[in-house]
Amino acid sequence: MNRVLVTRPIPEAGLAVLFPAAAVEISPRPLSQEEVLAKAEGCEAILCQLTDRIGAAVFDLPLLRVVATMSVGTDHLDLAAARARGIAVTNTPGCLTEATAELAWALILATARRLPEAERFLRAGRFRGWDPLLMQGQAVTGKRLGILGAGRIGQEVGRMARGFRMEVLYAARGAKPEFERECGARLAGADEIARTCDVVTVHTPLTPETRHLVDAAFLAKMKPTAILVNTSRGPVVDEAALVDALRQKRVFAAGLDVFEEEPAVHPGLLELENVVLLPHIASATFETRNRMAAMAAENVVAVLAGRPPISPVLPSV
Ligand code: GLV
Repeated sequence: MNRVLVTRPIPEAGLAVLFPAAAVEISPRPLSQEEVLAKAEGCEAILCQLTDRIGAAVFDLPLLRVVATMSVGTDHLDLAAARARGIAVTNTPGCLTEATAELAWALILATARRLPEAERFLRAGRFRGWDPLLMQGQAVTGKRLGILGAGRIGQEVGRMARGFRMEVLYAARGAKPEFERECGARLAGADEIARTCDVVTVHTPLTPETRHLVDAAFLAKMKPTAILVNTSRGPVVDEAALVDALRQKRVFAAGLDVFEEEPAVHPGLLELENVVLLPHIASATFETRNRMAAMAAENVVAVLAGRPPISPVLPSV
């Protein structure tokens, strides 16, 4: 029987797919790179997470045929090494689109209307009754939304913006005519988005080109009333520059689900009221996590059975 390493516990839906098809070892806790290497020796497949760094040494394992990550992002995997060795790599696109877009919206509203700050205020016993000056935030309805990276998730955030009658601008490598028709969205440069949008939401994958796409210069162009939300990857935003901008109130607020040195959070962010911080939970609905686990497992089973993977990042050779 083929052997599969599951690098940390996953939802039952994934295990139900794997158990009939392979001998499965599930690590009860996250593994270091060296531990993955040691445990995957003798395995044909690895089902991993975005918290695992899978480098060339793992792709060198002689029996390995597929690495299936339970994530849409693949920046934690050495794809060049996988390609060179003909090892299949798969991810879980599509099934987390709505969940991630919903969380981006949760962050947009939470930052615009200062929800966590208001709740901290109340829990601290400081609510003395309705006050005309209390906790004023930014309106969102009818404002301008800027989407950096209009893939599946960015476009879904744009579709949801129709409910708030927002004008939608997007930055992408090419025009998306269908998205434009659906949402009245307009292709724009990062510069126009920074200068004119009331809400900027980041949905690019992490690549050498997108690292620090939102840097000090981008933040300096933003309106002091504007909000920045990041649910993609931490390093797309220069966290130190963001701390400066938030501290000096050069932007109104930020909502972050991802961090540059995850799970570490820039200490400056933790001191600020005008930032909402979440522990990378964009895909964390029961429905979506079950589907992600099942999809990763279905990819493993397909490759081990000699079939093409259902959602290849790289097909096997
Ligand atoms: C989450 O960040 C993912 O890439 O699935």
